Amino acid sequence: MRISVLGTGYLGATHAACLAREGYDVVAVDCDPRKVASLAAGRAPFREDGLDDLLRAGIDAGRLCFTTDLHEAAGADVHFLCVGTPETTDPPGRLDLSALWGLVDDLAPLLRRPCLLVGRSTVPAGTAREVRDRVQRSAPAGPEVSVAWNPEFLREGHAVADSVDPHRIVVGTEDAADLVSLREVYRPWLDRDVPFVTTDLATAELAKVSANAMLATRISMVNVLAELCEQAGADVDGLVEVLGGDPRIGRDYLEPGLGFGGSCLPKDLRGLTASAQDAGLAVAADFLRQVDRVNDHQRSRTVALATDLLGGDVRGRRIAVLGAAFKAGSDDLRESPAVDVAGRLAGAGATVLVHDPAAHDVPSDRPWQLVATAAEACTDAELVLVLTPWPEYADLDPARLRRRVRFPRVIDARRALDRERWQQAGWQHWAPGVDAATLPADHRSVATA
Ligand code: UGA
Repeated sequence: MRISVLGTGYLGATHAACLAREGYDVVAVDCDPRKVASLAAGRAPFREDGLDDLLRAGIDAGRLCFTTDLHEAAGADVHFLCVGTPETTDPPGRLDLSALWGLVDDLAPLLRRPCLLVGRSTVPAGTAREVRDRVQRSAPAGPEVSVAWNPEFLREGHAVADSVDPHRIVVGTEDAADLVSLREVYRPWLDRDVPFVTTDLATAELAKVSANAMLATRISMVNVLAELCEQAGADVDGLVEVLGGDPRIGRDYLEPGLGFGGSCLPKDLRGLTASAQDAGLAVAADFLRQVDRVNDHQRSRTVALATDLLGGDVRGRRIAVLGAAFKAGSDDLRESPAVDVAGRLAGAGATVLVHDPAAHDVPSDRPWQLVATAAEACTDAELVLVLTPWPEYADLDPARLRRRVRFPRVIDARRALDRERWQQAGWQHWAPGVDAATLPADHRSVATA
C-alpha cells in the first residue's frame, strides 16, 4: 500500500515517520521548501522528542521521502490530509480551512486511480463531506475518491510516543470498504491491541475538539478548586489525590497552575464555543466560555499577586520570569500563559527578564527581554515568577539563587518547586492552591522596603 502524507507540521511529519517505521512507503508533501529540506535531511524544524531518529531511519531505509511536488503523491492509495487549520482572528473561534481547500483543489485533478483521502486536520463537523464534494467538482471525470476522517490526539513534545502507542485510533467512515482500507493501514497498531474506534464522519470530526475541550474543562475545574482551597486553608495536592483516587475521575489533567495554553486547547475550546453558538445552543456556549474565562483568570490573578507583592505598582520594578514555553518540553510560545503574564507585567511598566531553556524564536515586538540563563534573569530581581514547569527550575539551588536576587520571593505559578526547600533557604514562596491567604503578613513591607 502506497501512502502520502500531505502537510508536514508536527502532526504530518510524525505521522509520516511512524508509518514508515511500520514498513510503509510514504511520500510526504509540503509547500514550504525550507521545511521539506530540513525534514529530508532528517531534522525536524521543530522540537519533537525522538522524531529526528525516526525520520533518519525512514529515509535511510528508503521508505520515507519529502517533496514539495504534489505530483509525487498522486499515485498513493491512501492520502492523509494533515495541513494546518489555524483559528481566524475575526471572528475568533472559526477555523481557516483555506490550506485544506487549496490542497484538495490541487490534488483532485492529479488523481488517476481510486483512492482514499483521510482527513487528520482539526475541522468543524461537515468538512469531510465538503472535501468529497470539492474533489468531485474539481475533477468530475476523475477516479472514484472516498473520504474518511481520522483525528489525532498527539501532544506536542510527545507526538512520537503518542503515535507509536496511542490510547485509541478513531476513524470515521461512510463506506465499509474505506473501513477495511483503514484497518489495513493501522494493522501494525491493531496487532499491538491499540483500541480501534469506528464512527460516522461527524463524530470523528467532533472527536478532537471535544477531547481538547474536555481536557481544558478539567484544568479549569481544578484551578477553581485550587482557589477555593486557598480561601479554605485546604491543600489542593491532598484534594487532587482524593479526587484522582476515584477511577471515575482519574488523576490526569488535574494539575493546578497557570492554566492551559498552546496552539490546541484554547483554539479548540473557542472552536467548540463558536459551533455551539452557531447552532443556537446558548447554554452550551456559555458553559464553554466560562472554562476559558476561568483559564484567563489564572493569569490575571498571578499578575495581581505579583503587583501586590511589589507594593501595588510594578513600574520600574525588576522581575524575573522563569519559563516562556506554553508547557515544559516544548519550545512553542503560541498562546503561552507565561508569555501572556510576562507581557502584562512588562506592559504595566516592569522590567521583565525572561529565561526559557528551549524557546529561542521569540517575537521581536515583545516588551520583555529574553536572557540566556535563569541566574541572569534573577540577578537583582525583586520578584521571581516560575511560569513554565521545566525540571531545570526544580533543580535550581534556592540558597545560591537567593544571593543573586534583591528580594527572595517567588511565585511558583506552576507548582514546579519544592516549597519546603525554598522556604528553608529563606524564600517567600507562593503557589496556587496552597496559600494565597497565608503569605507572610510582612510581605508588603518587604515589598516596599
Ligand atoms: C493537546 C492535547 O493534549 C492533545 O491530545 C491534542 O492532540 C493536542 O492538544 C492537539 O490538539 O493537537 P498539547 O497542546 O501538546 O496537546 O498540550 P497538553 O500537553 O495537553 O497541555 C496543554 C496545556 O495545559 C499546557 O499549557 C499545560 O501546561 C496545561 N496543563 C496540562 C495544565 O495546566 N494542567 C494539567 O493538568 C495539564
